[in-house]
Amino acid sequence: MNNFQFWSPTEFIFGKGTENETGKYVKKHGGSKVLLHYGGGSAERSGLLGRVRASLEGCGIKYVELGGVKPNPRDTLVYEGIDVCRREGIDFILAVGGGSVIDSAKAIAMGVPYDGDFWDFYTIKDPDEALPVGTVLTIAAAGSEGSGDSVITKEDGGLKRGAGSDVLRPRFSILDPELTCTLPAYQTACGATDIMAHVFERYFTNTKEVEITDRLCEAVLLTMIRETPIAVAQPDNYDARANIMWAGMVAHNNIVGVGREQDWNSHGIEHELSALYDCAHGAGLAVIMPAWMEYVCKHDAARFAQVAVRVWGCQMDYFDPEKTAREGIKRFRSFLHSIGMPINFAELGAKEEDIPKLVEKFGLGGGETGGFVHLTSADIAEIYKIAAKAQL
Ligand code: NZQ
Ligand code: ZN
Repeated sequence: MNNFQFWSPTEFIFGKGTENETGKYVKKHGGSKVLLHYGGGSAERSGLLGRVRASLEGCGIKYVELGGVKPNPRDTLVYEGIDVCRREGIDFILAVGGGSVIDSAKAIAMGVPYDGDFWDFYTIKDPDEALPVGTVLTIAAAGSEGSGDSVITKEDGGLKRGAGSDVLRPRFSILDPELTCTLPAYQTACGATDIMAHVFERYFTNTKEVEITDRLCEAVLLTMIRETPIAVAQPDNYDARANIMWAGMVAHNNIVGVGREQDWNSHGIEHELSALYDCAHGAGLAVIMPAWMEYVCKHDAARFAQVAVRVWGCQMDYFDPEKTAREGIKRFRSFLHSIGMPINFAELGAKEEDIPKLVEKFGLGGGETGGFVHLTSADIAEIYKIAAKAQL
C-alpha cells in the first residue's frame, strides 16, 4: 500500500428533517452572512428552500440568494457569484442542490479571495484558500458533498475541467435522504452510475496488496447493485434512498481510494461528452465506463476477474481469467441498461462523427494520460468508438 494523507474535515448531518438545522450549522462553522446558492427550481418546488431560509432567519443569519445553477455548471454564473460575494461581504457559501450547485459554490468560494481569474484553478494551479462552504444535498451522485473537487464548464469553447484541493472540502453537509425522493428515475440512475464509477476509478489500480480498499469498494458496489433498482422502482423508499445517499459520499470522499494509484480516465473521457452535448454526467459514464473497461481489460485481467466474481457473481474461469473479466463487464453494462441508462452513443444523443472533435478537446496532443493504463489520443478515439457502437 502507498503512503497517504487523508483529511476529511466535513461534518455530516444525516437523516430526516435535518435541513431544518441548517442555520445552526452555518453559525457553528463561522458563517454570519451567507450566499444561498441553488439550481433551476427543484429545491424551490419541493419547499426545501423555504425551510432553509426559515432556518437561517431563525438563527439570525443574513443571506443573499443566487439561483440558476445549471447541470454541468458554467463559469459565467461563477463570475457573477464572486462579484455578489465581494459586494455584499459574504463570509460563507451555502449550496442547496446537487453536484452542480455544490461545484459552482466551491468555484465561487475559491474565486472570492483570489486576485486572478478563478479559472486558473481549473487549468494551471491549486487554490491556497477558499471561503467556507456548507451543503444541503438533494441528489446522491457526484459526491461533491464530501470531496475536495469541483467541475466547471467554460461557456466559451465548452471546456469542462476539474479543480481539486482539500480547502474545497465542505465544512458541513446535510444529508436528508427524503429530499432525494422527488428525483425522477432517470436522475436517480444517473446518480447511481456516477457513484459506481467513482468506485471503479479507484478500484482499477496497479498498486498491489490493497485488500482493505478493494473490499470497501466492493461493499459500495454491492450496495448500489442492491439498492438502485429499488429506488428507481419505488422513489419513496426511504431505506434505499438512505443507503444510496451515504454510498455516494463514501464512494468519493476518497476513503475507498487512499493508499493506491487511481485512474480517472473514464471521467476525463466522459467530461468531453457532457461538455459537448450537455448530457448528464452519469449517463455519459454509463456509455464510457464499460467501453474503457473492454479496452483496457487485458492490462490486468485478474483484477477485472476479481470484481467479476466478487461483485457480479461470475464463475471464475481459472484457465481463462479474461473470459471471466469480460463477463463481469457485460453484466455491468446490462445492469446499467436495466436501470434505464443509455449504453451507446445513439441512446445518449452523441454522434460518432464527433469523435475527432471529442479527442481534440480532451487535449492530449501527442502526449498521454496517467493512471491504471496510460492512454494516447489514439487510444481515447478507440474507446469512443467502442462506446459509440456498444450493444448488450
Ligand atoms: O437544477 P434543479 O432544478 O435543482 O434540478 C436538478 C438537475 O436538473 C435535478 N435535481 C437535483 N436534486 C433534485 C432534482 N430534481 C428533483 N428532485 C431533487 N431532489 O437533477 C438535475 C441534476 O443535478 P446535478 O446537480 O447536475 O447532478 P449531479 O449531482 O449528478 O452533479 C453533476 C455535476 O457534478 C460533476 C459532474 O461533472 C456534473 O457537472 N461532478 C462533480 C464531482 C465532484 N465535485 O467531486 C465529481 C463527479 O465525478 C462529477 O464529475
Ligand atoms: Zn463522477
